Amino acid sequence: MGVVGKNCAVVLAAGEGKRMKSNKPKVLACVLFKPMLDWVLDAVSESGINDTCVVLGHLGEMVEIHLDGRCEIVYQKERLGTGHAVMQAIDYLNSRDAENVLILAGDAPFIDPLTIEESLRKHILMNNAVTVISARIKKPFGYGRIVRDKKGNFIKIVEQTDTTEEENLINEVNSGAYWFDKQCLVYALEHISDNNASSEYYLTDTIDELRKIGKKTYVFMTDNSDVALGANDRFQLMELNEIARRKILLNHLVNGVEIPCMDGIIIGTYVTIGAGTLLLPNTIIKGRTIIGSNCELGPNTFINSSVVHDNVRLNNVYFESSEISNGADMGPFAHVRPNSIIGEGVHVGNFVEIKNSTIGEKSKLPHLSYVGDSDLGKNVNFGCGALTVNYDGKVKSKTTIKDNAFVGCNVNLIAPVTVGEYTYVAAGSTITENAPDGALSIARARQVNKEDWVSKKKPYKDMPKKKKSK
Ligand code: UD1
Ligand code: CA
Repeated sequence: MGVVGKNCAVVLAAGEGKRMKSNKPKVLACVLFKPMLDWVLDAVSESGINDTCVVLGHLGEMVEIHLDGRCEIVYQKERLGTGHAVMQAIDYLNSRDAENVLILAGDAPFIDPLTIEESLRKHILMNNAVTVISARIKKPFGYGRIVRDKKGNFIKIVEQTDTTEEENLINEVNSGAYWFDKQCLVYALEHISDNNASSEYYLTDTIDELRKIGKKTYVFMTDNSDVALGANDRFQLMELNEIARRKILLNHLVNGVEIPCMDGIIIGTYVTIGAGTLLLPNTIIKGRTIIGSNCELGPNTFINSSVVHDNVRLNNVYFESSEISNGADMGPFAHVRPNSIIGEGVHVGNFVEIKNSTIGEKSKLPHLSYVGDSDLGKNVNFGCGALTVNYDGKVKSKTTIKDNAFVGCNVNLIAPVTVGEYTYVAAGSTITENAPDGALSIARARQVNKEDWVSKKKPYKDMPKKKKSK
């Protein structure tokens, strides 16, 4: 549906996140392989807001590189509190004709478009100066609490350090997300002070300033209690991962994906999976991967940034930046490296590595092969241990194997080289020249049998003497 009115967003992302003990800024810590900041920015753009300013501080240059021009950026040189962070965006705000400003924390990844839209609707309908987004959570310790009167009207936000015993029991908390009327926000930021225990400019103090001049302040409680959750340390980050992982798996179940056991199954946020596909334990799928219907993936399978068509089976497979067509099957223990295209009905067995190659329809590589920088046609058979030799120590070269070729066991195809259609390559050959269509190519030394060599040379110590034949 999207938001109504003229809006922009400010995302606070200057915090250091000391407790993460990381060399990355906290907002780049990942939940399901996606930086927390991207979760927030995705929710903002999904709700239809396309003008966003991010406040950067600690290791901000790293975040700036990550953002790659997606948003406006301002720097907060000293971290003097959430209010001070928003102050850095005042010039940005004044340069916009937006009426409403959404403020979000870059370390609270589960803000969702519906909450953004519904809270804005209330904000506009009620003509609020500020609408605080709150949630009820099980462990409110550490959050600002929402204090209401007996009728349920919002009175104030109390930070953890200032709570009374009674307030400590309140489990409705400030999520750190707000809608502000822009003029009111700019006014209030000019009036808050750092006259408090931690000598910080609290964004939450703007609420009092707005009340003083008779403006309406309101708290919108969302049903999605995860909205408030943030990660300050690795443990909380793991908890967020677990929450997101479960949520995504439940969504896939609703869409008809079969998951008999969730153990070790991690599916990234941008992955799509068709109905009837079975996911087995320890299957990790990330990137913008598209999975078709009725596949069987896992156990122990990793897929990144790939396209997997229908009816594909991958068992103990590592599959990266590649495509695999209908009905193909792989594994156990196969490795597909970037830029490979595996055709329909292809069979790849154990201990096979494929890199930057195309494998045509119904070809078979059942065991122990390496195929690099190659183009295999249809119905090609690669015997056990057959492989392409694509690298001479200086350059990589291409191997072409045409339709219906049969490459025997333990063949080396020294690239650049072409094997023709219906060509037979004898087992153990080292092929350095093109093998023409329909030929039998043999490139190996002829066998020599030296009769009675053993009894003459006696290389074995304890070999029984040969009985004389009658
Ligand atoms: C804040 C709220 C609290 C709320 C909680 C929700 C205030 C005073 N309190 O507390 O009511 O329950 O969020 O998570 O606002 N940041 C900056 N620059 C700064 C300080 C913070 O950019 O100088 C950023 C942080 O990177 C973070 C966000 O602002 O993304 C929130 O800051 P944080 O210090 O975590 O606020 P809390 O103490 O958790
Ligand atoms: Ca926080």
